[in-house]
Amino acid sequence: MRLHGIVIGMWALGFAFSASAAGTATAGKSKAQVCMGCHGPDGNGVGTFPKLAGQHASYIAQQLHNFKSGLRKDPIMTAQVANLKDQDMEDLAAFFSANKVSLGGVEKTKKELGERIYRGGNQAKSVPACMGCHGPNGVGNAPAKFPSLSGQTTAYVEKTMKDFHDGRRGNEDKDSNGKIMRDIAARMSDAEIAAVASYVSGLH
Ligand code: HEC
Ligand code: HEC
Repeated sequence: MRLHGIVIGMWALGFAFSASAAGTATAGKSKAQVCMGCHGPDGNGVGTFPKLAGQHASYIAQQLHNFKSGLRKDPIMTAQVANLKDQDMEDLAAFFSANKVSLGGVEKTKKELGERIYRGGNQAKSVPACMGCHGPNGVGNAPAKFPSLSGQTTAYVEKTMKDFHDGRRGNEDKDSNGKIMRDIAARMSDAEIAAVASYVSGLH
């Protein structure tokens, strides 16, 4: 009887562990088929859809949770995550994160302003240098939850910065730093947002 209890106990423990286990890219790949039409077979995005390739797994999983809980709102993504379990999110995050991001190019007319903002901010408006958190090469900082921006599509970065600017995006749960970006983007002009959005697409 006692042995039986121990075996059941171990099984329950094993189950609890597997329910929250770190994701694997192999499991994620088969679950990602439905995502690929928009995010691309390797996560490098189709058209203006955001790239997920090379993004930190912890950030991808966090955003999926935020879409599911409603902290981050987007009609397309809300529908996509409705049936995802925690383990699915971890596996999907592991798969996309393991791919290499493809770089875009910065538009000539946007480079100077974009680089200036990214590397130095705009002191007159208390806009901090993006580099301070997203890193000199744009790859962010996983433990600090600063996402990678390197190679991200200009159209998506511009759109999401405007969402932060207008308060449409900004996660205020205790685990998220989304309000930081809302405060920063609120102080930026459309021209500054467009320039920095172009700059990061080629940044590496
Ligand atoms: C029909 C197109 C479509 C499909 C299919 C789709 N997505 Fe998305 N995804 C989007 C759009 C559009 C956005 C940008 C949302 C926004 O502007 O806030 C997005 C955003 C995301 C983000 C946030 C990216 C970031 O940098 O913050 C993640 C993570 C994500 N999708 C993962 C997935 C996963 C995983 C799947 C499959 C289960 C999936 N998506 C399926 C269109 C799609
Ligand atoms: C103090 C740290 C900090 C600074 C400085 C900062 N960011 Fe961020 N950024 C963050 C954090 C944290 C997030 C994640 C927000 C979330 O969880 O939704 C983020 C997210 C983003 C995103 C969304 C990425 C995605 O894949 O959806 C973009 C774009 C971005 N930042 C651009 C910038 C730009 C441009 C600047 C400079 C003008 C900048 N950031 C300065 C911390 C920072």
